[in-house]
Amino acid sequence: MVDHQFADAGLAALYDRFHPWESRGDVSFYLPHVLAARSVLDIGCGTGLLLHRARDAGHTGRLCGLDPATGMLERARRRSDVEWVQGDLETVDWRGEFELAVMTGHAFQVLVADEQLRAALAAVRQLLTEDGRFAFETRNPAARAWERWTPENSSTTRAADGTPVRMEHRVLSPAPGEPLDRTVTFSTTFSGPDGRAEERSRSTLRFLDAPELDAFLAEAGLEVVERFGDWDGSPFDPEHSPEIIVFARRGERAPSRP
Ligand SMILES: C[S@@+](CC[C@H](N)C(=O)[O-])C[C@H]1O[C@@H](n2cnc3c(N)ncnc32)[C@H](O)[C@@H]1O
Repeated sequence: MVDHQFADAGLAALYDRFHPWESRGDVSFYLPHVLAARSVLDIGCGTGLLLHRARDAGHTGRLCGLDPATGMLERARRRSDVEWVQGDLETVDWRGEFELAVMTGHAFQVLVADEQLRAALAAVRQLLTEDGRFAFETRNPAARAWERWTPENSSTTRAADGTPVRMEHRVLSPAPGEPLDRTVTFSTTFSGPDGRAEERSRSTLRFLDAPELDAFLAEAGLEVVERFGDWDGSPFDPEHSPEIIVFARRGERAPSRP
């Protein structure tokens, strides 16, 4: 089931307001790669920000966004010059169709269970062309980003009618100082000018370290070709990088599991 904040039309309408293009190193990092590929699938495309930009920047090939959340996809569908599909990697059956598959905005971390991750990576390998690439990022667990997801670090924006909206996160597990046990569960609360909470959403994200990630990719028949540690293109440092940004390609050999 998708998070309320992505399924709900009203909250999805706030997403790009809280995360505007200018504040996002990830989407500007991926854009040149999108522009260089003739067919692109954006998995967990959300409001469609990246593919909208690619079309505006002159991409003339196939651009396709996939997302299971009604609210987010409703935003994406406001433009019809991109193909939009509601679903996830377990509900589609594309074969050898995309030169590039991307997952941005840490959408990769919604793949929580081992079997979900395996099924998703197998589907990615299948949908890529022979020389296709899969580009995505996951937060480096060593940077412990969730420790900064606190009400003190809330952010505020304005809804379309000008009303201020505050968004704050609160981590439910792990407890402060506790070691990470694969996932982080947190709430996101949206409140209006009177401070009353109007909407609350709960999320669970998986944090994989680089060796764990490499093992899942290898098992799915995907080979890491490049890895970065941040949106400035700096190399990945396991202890200090905030991100694990991966470019993988279809390996020569078939996946080790069916
Ligand atoms: C944090 S948003 C990122 C959206 C967009 N990629 C961006 O960068 O703005 C995560 C997105 O992943 C989507 N999502 C949730 N479960 C998913 C799944 N199993 N497969 C693909 N996308 C999923 C959500 O609906 C949401 O739109």
